[in-house]
Amino acid sequence: MKCFLVFVTILTARSTPILPVRSIAARSSPSEVIDIVIPEGRSQTNCIVSQMSDLKHCLKTKSIVISNLAVPARETLDLSNLISGTQVMFTGTTTFAHAHWVGPLVVISGKDIQVSGDGILDGQGALSWDGKGTNGGYKKARLLYLKDLHGASVTGITIRNSPAQVMKVIDSDHLMISGITIDNTDGDTHGGHNTDGIGISNSQYITVSNCIMHTQDDCIAVVSGSNIHVSGIHCTNGHGLAVGSVGGKLHNSVMNVLFENSILVNNTNGVRLKTNYNTTGEVANVTFSNIKLEMIAKYGIDIQQDYLNGGPTNMPSDGVKITNIHMHNIFGNVNKGAYPVNVLCGHDSCHNLEFSGINITGGSGSHCNVKIIGFDCR
Ligand SMILES: *[C@@H]1O[C@H](CO)[C@@H](O)[C@H](O)[C@H]1NC(C)=O
Ligand SMILES: *[C@@H]1O[C@H](CO)[C@@H](O)[C@H](O)[C@H]1NC(C)=O
Ligand SMILES: *[C@@H]1O[C@H](CO)[C@@H](O)[C@H](O)[C@H]1NC(C)=O
Ligand SMILES: *[C@@H]1O[C@H](CO)[C@@H](O)[C@H](O)[C@H]1NC(C)=O
Repeated sequence: MKCFLVFVTILTARSTPILPVRSIAARSSPSEVIDIVIPEGRSQTNCIVSQMSDLKHCLKTKSIVISNLAVPARETLDLSNLISGTQVMFTGTTTFAHAHWVGPLVVISGKDIQVSGDGILDGQGALSWDGKGTNGGYKKARLLYLKDLHGASVTGITIRNSPAQVMKVIDSDHLMISGITIDNTDGDTHGGHNTDGIGISNSQYITVSNCIMHTQDDCIAVVSGSNIHVSGIHCTNGHGLAVGSVGGKLHNSVMNVLFENSILVNNTNGVRLKTNYNTTGEVANVTFSNIKLEMIAKYGIDIQQDYLNGGPTNMPSDGVKITNIHMHNIFGNVNKGAYPVNVLCGHDSCHNLEFSGINITGGSGSHCNVKIIGFDCR
C-alpha cells in the first residue's frame, strides 16, 4: 500500500516555554516533530461521541469529539487510558444528570493528550447544592479529574456549575492548563460550597495560565507537588489563591511554586498558605508576585499553621516546615474589618518569610506572630 507522511508539530506542556521560575528545571526538548502515517485515501477523521454508546469505539481512535453529550446519572465520562497522542475536543454543551454521588463526572488520563474546544461542561450544580458542600448534607459530584496525565494540554473549555470541586489535577506531570473558564456563579445564590476551581495534588511541572474563575472556595489550591506555575488568573467570589492545606494527607510536600500576575475580586482571602494543625509536612520556595486584591473580606495575605477544616484552632503547630516564602507586589484593598496581612506560624516552623512591595489598603490592621523580612507588620 502506498503511504504518505505528514509531519505534525505537537505542542505539549513539555515543549511549551513557560515563564522562567528560577527553580523550575530546564525543559528537556524543544518542539517535537513526529511522523504520522496515514493510508492513502483516508484522512484523519474525528470520532464523534454524541451519546454514551458512541464512546467505546471512539476510545480506539486518537481524535475524539464530545458533542452535546448527555451523560446519564451516576456515570463517569471515562476518558482514562487514552491512546498516546489523543486529541479530545468538547463542542456544544455536555450535561451530567443529577445524582447524589461523589463522581467524578469526567476523568481524563494518558500520555501526550490534548483537550480543547469551545464546549461547555455543565454540572447542573443547583440540583445538588445545599450550602454544605463536601462537609455535609448530600453527596456531591466532583466534576473533572485530570489524573495520571503525562504531557498534556487543556485549553478553551468552560466548566459551569459544578456540584462540588471543579477540577483536580492528581498524580500528573507536564500538564498545561490555559484559557479555560470556570463559572460557578449560580452557586452564589443557590448554596454552592466547596466548589474549588483547580486543586493540584502530587503533580509536577504544571502550568495554569489565563483562566477566569468564579467559585465558592479556593480558585486554585496547590495541596502537594512541585514546580507549579500559575499566572493570569482572574478570580471572583472565591477563597483566593492558596497553597494548602498541607499536612495529614498522602502527600505533604509543596516545593517551587510561583503564582503571579493575577486579580482577585471579592474573595474571602487573597493569597494564602495554610497548613493543617497537628500534622507534618514541608512547604518550600513559594512566591506570590504581582497580585491585585479588590474587596477581600478576611485576609489579604494569610499564612496560618492552625488550619482545620472545621475551623482554625488558633493554636499554630510546628509539624509543617515553611521555608523561603516570598510575597512581592501584592496590592489593592481589603474590606472593613479584614486583615491586610495575617501570619500565624508555629513556634519554630517558619523560616525566611520575605515580603516586598506590599500595599494593601483598608481593613483594621495586620497581625503577625513572627518577624517578616522587609515588612513591618502592624
Ligand atoms: C529552593 O530554591 C533554592 C534557590 O533556587 C534552591 O537552592 C533550593 O534547592 C530550593 N529548595 C527546594 C526544597 O527545592
Ligand atoms: C461578593 O461575595 C459575596 C459572597 O459570595 C456575595 O454575596 C456578593 O454578592 C459579592 N459581591 C459582589 C459585588 O460581587
Ligand atoms: C495530634 O495528632 C496525634 C496523632 O494523630 C493525636 O494522637 C493527638 O491527639 C493530636 N493532638 C491534638 C492536640 O490534637
Ligand atoms: C498604595 O496604594 C494606594 C491606593 O491604590 C495609592 O494611592 C498609594 O500611592 C500606594 N502607595 C504606595 C507607596 O505605592
